[in-house]
Amino acid sequence: MDYFWINILILSTFIFIVLMMIVFILKLRKNNQNINESKKRYKNLFNSIPVAIFVWGKDLKVLDWNKHAEYIFGYKKEEIIGKNYFDFIVPEDLRKDVDKVTSKILDMNRVKNVNENITKDGRRILCEWDVIVEKDEKGNFYRAISMAQDVTEKTKYQQELKKTVEKLSETNEELYSSNEELEESYKIIENQSDQMREMIELFNRFDQTDMSLDQFYSEILLVAMDVMTEADYGSISIIEKDKWEFIASSGHNLEKLRELELHKKDSIIVSSPTIIKDIKKENMKRFNDAQRRIFEEATRDIKESLIISVPIDDDIYLNIAIDIAAESKKGFNDNSIMLFQAFKNIASTYLKNKVYSKKIIDSYLDFSKKLATIAEAHDDITGKHINRVGELSAFFAEKLGYKKSFVDRIRNEAPLHDIGKIFVDKAILDKKGPLTDEEWEIMKKHTVLSGRLLSEDFFRLAKKIAYYHHEKWDGSGYPFGMKGDEIPLEAQIVSLVDVYDALRDERPYKKAFTHQQAVDIISKGDGRTKPEHFNPKLLKIFLEYEKDIEKIFDDLKE
Ligand SMILES: [Fe+2]
Ligand SMILES: [Fe+2]
Repeated sequence: MDYFWINILILSTFIFIVLMMIVFILKLRKNNQNINESKKRYKNLFNSIPVAIFVWGKDLKVLDWNKHAEYIFGYKKEEIIGKNYFDFIVPEDLRKDVDKVTSKILDMNRVKNVNENITKDGRRILCEWDVIVEKDEKGNFYRAISMAQDVTEKTKYQQELKKTVEKLSETNEELYSSNEELEESYKIIENQSDQMREMIELFNRFDQTDMSLDQFYSEILLVAMDVMTEADYGSISIIEKDKWEFIASSGHNLEKLRELELHKKDSIIVSSPTIIKDIKKENMKRFNDAQRRIFEEATRDIKESLIISVPIDDDIYLNIAIDIAAESKKGFNDNSIMLFQAFKNIASTYLKNKVYSKKIIDSYLDFSKKLATIAEAHDDITGKHINRVGELSAFFAEKLGYKKSFVDRIRNEAPLHDIGKIFVDKAILDKKGPLTDEEWEIMKKHTVLSGRLLSEDFFRLAKKIAYYHHEKWDGSGYPFGMKGDEIPLEAQIVSLVDVYDALRDERPYKKAFTHQQAVDIISKGDGRTKPEHFNPKLLKIFLEYEKDIEKIFDDLKE
């Protein structure tokens, strides 16, 4: 019995062990299945990931190589496994660095970099690398997993993008600087047009004023100085035939400059605006000792000058010079030259206009004077009389404080006072005896008849004088019997001067009086002439300056 139970026990133990073994084997198989599945999944992942991955061990030998590595580098797994990957995917010229690269990788746990690689078909590509180094417990290299992505295209695009960005920023900079240039040019243009506007406004002033040619030159210089803001001094000189003389100046001593006796050969004539450094030195070279001394005294020290010669008539040039002081930091530039050229063009037009109209006026005056002489001759009076009336009237006008242009006009136009006599019958003018009432009425008309000849607006002063030169301060004159200040002052002047000169002059009906006699007659009266006939203010001037008046008469006697 015991034996039976022992056998049963042994058998059941055996069966248990066998069952346990079966369970163990089944479990082991299950585990193996799991491991295989994991391996398979890893392989799938290893091969399907879009990153080139390869595993390498010592001596750079490839242990595993995924599908994307095949795709990027072109080598099948079987071609590269067990071989030094440097020999395949590192370009030959870069292989010499193998030791350096390897030792660098081995020293570190993880290396990230971008390297140039080569494919099986010889293309050089750029790869972004991430290398993970695995080490054993002792810290020795075990293996490494290299992961690479082909960044050739990406880099190319990036580089292109960088270039485009650089180009854009360059273009932007160019745009910016051309914008600055534009702004700068705009400012220059704006400034120039302001200066031009100012210049034109300044020149426009000339149209409204009645100035002499000399004043006109001075005004032109003032305009030049106003417009050319960099200029400190200036001068205008005229080169006429062989002579060269200064006629206007700003900053320099004009009186001294006028003392200079200069000739055309001493001057500089330029057809376009020209900058001359140290013009004093330049001039001195051509001057003689006497000229040098005066010039040195008359002029300030100059750093540079801008000069232009304006032809205004046959063989007549106007030289306009503007100067920068020796101590100034300023200088002339292209803008100055351009503006000065514009100035010259406008000035030249005005100058020619002025010179020609002066010529016209001069010949008009000359002709009128000749006509007046004929009129006076008609009355047996010499041309000397009318010249003296001009000069003496100018003298009074000056003493009354009239400006020079007006004084000049009186000088030129007073001689025309009797021009109306040309319309008076010579028989009446020549009549020795007293005139009949009718004849006297005709005679008195010589005043208003002058209007037939002096109808031009230019002769309005001459006409005024001719109309009223026989009116008397006390109202006893003709043709209108005007009194006191009703009579234009210019006519009052000529009235007094005409009487004085007539007294001093020899006429067919009378002898010449001495100066003293004339003074006595005018200041005390002689029955025919009375002091009441004259403006007391003019009478006062007459007596105060009688010596000067005598001299003017005597100088112009013959
Ligand atoms: Fe008269
Ligand atoms: Fe007269």
